[in-house]
Amino acid sequence: MRILITGGAGFVGSSLARKFKSEGADVVTFDNLRRRGSERNVIDFQKRGIDFIHGDIRNAADVDSIAGDFDLVIDASAEPSVLAGTDGNGIRYLNDTNLNGTLNCLEFVRTRKSKLIFLSTSRVYSIKALQGIKLREDATRFAISETGNLPGLTKEGITEDFPVVGHGFRSLYGATKLASELFVEEYAQTFNMPAVINRCGVIAGPGQFGKTDQGVFTMWVARHLWAKPLQYTGFGGQGKQVRDLLHPADLHDLLKRQIKALPNLRGETFVAAGGQHGSASLMEFTNICRRVCGNTPEIKSNPQTASVDVPFFVGDSSKCQKTFDWAPKATPEDIVKDIADWLRSDEPNLKPLFA
Ligand SMILES: NC(=O)c1ccc[n+]([C@@H]2O[C@H](COP(=O)([O-])OP(=O)(O)OC[C@H]3O[C@@H](n4cnc5c(N)ncnc54)[C@H](O)[C@@H]3O)[C@@H](O)[C@H]2O)c1
Repeated sequence: MRILITGGAGFVGSSLARKFKSEGADVVTFDNLRRRGSERNVIDFQKRGIDFIHGDIRNAADVDSIAGDFDLVIDASAEPSVLAGTDGNGIRYLNDTNLNGTLNCLEFVRTRKSKLIFLSTSRVYSIKALQGIKLREDATRFAISETGNLPGLTKEGITEDFPVVGHGFRSLYGATKLASELFVEEYAQTFNMPAVINRCGVIAGPGQFGKTDQGVFTMWVARHLWAKPLQYTGFGGQGKQVRDLLHPADLHDLLKRQIKALPNLRGETFVAAGGQHGSASLMEFTNICRRVCGNTPEIKSNPQTASVDVPFFVGDSSKCQKTFDWAPKATPEDIVKDIADWLRSDEPNLKPLFA
């Protein structure tokens, strides 16, 4: 099997590239190395026999010049920060990469008669709808108190049917991803193109060069390991906001199952998330980090909530689990341990990247 991974030097792309390569696939990665730390993966790819093409997904000529045929394209190139463009800077880059880049990718898949796995995000959901979920405040976390009349909300969390429109904005990042999802559906239907959309919540694990605006859970582990100060931000500043975490190994397991089903898929959307099993509040995550890393750094508190922030997101991936006979295995504790092991394994080189 020959696989092209756009954004292949990034966290998710490189994790998948290594996994698929280790199973015998011929893997080509394509990346413009914009993300800090992604250049490290290129050195590792050389050792593993993973091909790397330096190119820009915004540039159709770069994409079209990728040689050969591919059984599968995984589109993992993006500016993945929910805060991207919100200060008025970098909006063109965001739109050109996340939306026009998807279009370039779709044209590549169409003209090469390949198949597409598109990585989307829980950020496609309307923020006001997410903020409208009735929550109760438990000792260490917020939790769903009633599912009410909102479509796509179950006691397990948020499904594919939760509102993406009709409740206002969703962040510039989320808008580029939602627009991309629409085009994936159109191409799949119009050109009978095998394609699937995975709406992921937080993906976290070794190899992520986390920062405050993206990859915060990995950054949280790094700061515990190296005893650097942290801050709970928003929702009263107590760290009770909840997310679910998906390990890239569980995503890889899902993709392997989807590859088998792809000939019959035409742009269907699946919530692919860690679910309740993989969920943690920041406060709970802190306790795991303290245990695993053996440090208790100072945590300041800022009660102010950013307009794009939500107190709770846990994906209900029942449809995905049923369709592909899949279930995420890693717990937040497994993820913290794997991240800490990775950081310890190359501390002198990795520490400066988390400064
Ligand atoms: N990490 C998460 O929590 C998460 C959650 C949901 C969805 N996703 C999606 O998964 C995908 C991968 O995210 P990630 O966490 O690995 O992010 P990442 O930033 O680590 O990887 C993205 C890669 O894309 C590359 N890139 C950026 N602009 C490019 C361009 N114009 N041309 C070519 N390459 C470019 C970057 O250099 C980087 O290596 C993205 O589509 C993201 O939206 C990620």
